[in-house]
Amino acid sequence: MRRIDLIEPFRVMQLLERAKQLEAEGQRIIHMEIGEPDFPTPEPVLEAARNHLATGDNFYTPSTGSPQLQQALADWYADEYDVQIAPERILITPGTSGAFSLIYAVLLDAGESVLLPDPGYPCQRNFVRLAGGEALNIPVGPETRYHLSAAHIADNWQQKTRAAVVINPGNPTGTLIEETELAAIASCCAEKGGYLISDEIYHGLTYGEKPPCALQGNHGDNREHTIVVNGFSKRWAMTGWRIGWVILPEDLIGAARRVMQNIFIAAPTISQFSAISALSSQREVEGMRIAYDTRRRYLLAALPKLGFDIVVEPQGAFYIYANVQKLSDDSRAFCWDMLEKVGVAITPGEDFGIHHAAEHVRFSYATSLDCLKEGMRRLEMPCKQVLMKNNTA
Ligand SMILES: Cc1ncc(COP(=O)(O)O)c(C=O)c1O
Repeated sequence: MRRIDLIEPFRVMQLLERAKQLEAEGQRIIHMEIGEPDFPTPEPVLEAARNHLATGDNFYTPSTGSPQLQQALADWYADEYDVQIAPERILITPGTSGAFSLIYAVLLDAGESVLLPDPGYPCQRNFVRLAGGEALNIPVGPETRYHLSAAHIADNWQQKTRAAVVINPGNPTGTLIEETELAAIASCCAEKGGYLISDEIYHGLTYGEKPPCALQGNHGDNREHTIVVNGFSKRWAMTGWRIGWVILPEDLIGAARRVMQNIFIAAPTISQFSAISALSSQREVEGMRIAYDTRRRYLLAALPKLGFDIVVEPQGAFYIYANVQKLSDDSRAFCWDMLEKVGVAITPGEDFGIHHAAEHVRFSYATSLDCLKEGMRRLEMPCKQVLMKNNTA
C-alpha cells in the first residue's frame, strides 16, 4: 500500500457536509460536532494585529519563531507553571498541527512507531503515517480515564517505538490524566530511551484541578525525554491564526530548525506578533472558561436523562464522550439518524479510533447554551421513544 493510502479522512466532515446541505435548504441545524471555539478572538489580540499591520512588517521571522514571542512564552511558563524554559527551546509553528508534523519528521525513520490512545485525536495517527512511521493505537478505557498508562507503555513499547502521546485534557473525552501516572509515563519513556509527547492544547480550559505541564515539578525530571506541544487555537480562540509551539529537548533543536527552514520557512508573522497579547488576555480567557463550564454542567445533567451514559466526568476541553448503547448499537447510524430526523449534529466514535467506537459519540459544547438547550429538546423525543421501546421489550 502506498503511504498516502493510509491517510484516513475525517469522517465527520461528511456529516458536516450533509448538515450544510440541510442548512442551505433552510433547516436550522444544531452543531455539537465541531471542536472549534465559538468565541471571537480576544480584543487585545485583534488590536495587536491591527497595530502590527500598520508597521508594514510582513516579512518572515526566523524559522524557529520571533524571538519576542519565544521570550513571551518563556515568561508565561515561569508565571503559569513555575517552570524555567530557555526561549530557544520554544519553537513557533503554524498551529499545533505544524508542531506535530515537525516532531514526527524529526523523530521517525521509516517503520518506527508511536504509541497513541484509542480513542484519541484522529490527526495524530495520520501525522505519524505521513512521516513513514507506524501508529500503534492502544485501546484505552474508563479505568485509565481514557489515557495511556505507564503499564500500557511498558507492555506495548517495541524495539522500534520512539514515543508515546498523552493528550491532557483529552480529545474526545475531556478527561485529565492522573498526575502520578503522567510522571510514571515520563519515566517509562525515558527508560526506554524514547519520548513522552504531551499535547497540552486544552490547558486553561479545565473546570476543577489544573493539570501540570509535563515539564513541571517532578514530571520535569525527564526533560531530555519530554516534548510539550501547545497552541493558541483553543484556550485563546485563535483557530484561524494558525499558531502553536513545541518545546523540544536541546539535542533535537538543530534537526528541528533544519526541518522548519524547509517545510514552513516560518509561522505567520502577523499571528506571531498578535499572539504575544493573547498571553496577557487573562480576563477574556477566564470569561470563555466560565461559559464552557456552565455548558458542560448543563450537558452533564441533561444527557443521562436522554439515555447517554457518561462514565468518566470530563474536567477539561469542550467535549463529552458518551456511551450511546442504551439508544443504539451503531453510533454512526445514530448520528446520521439524529441529523436527518431532528437536525442535531454529533460526532460518532469511529472518528477517534476503533476501540468501542460503535458504542460512543462525542458532544462538543463549543456552541451557545441556547443551542445546547435546543439540541437537547430536539433529541428528547427520539431518545425517549427508544428507551421506552427497550423497557417494554
Ligand atoms: C488534541 C488536539 N491537538 C491538536 C489540535 C490541532 O490544533 P491546531 O492545529 O489548530 O493548533 C487539535 C484540534 O482540534 C486537537 O484537538
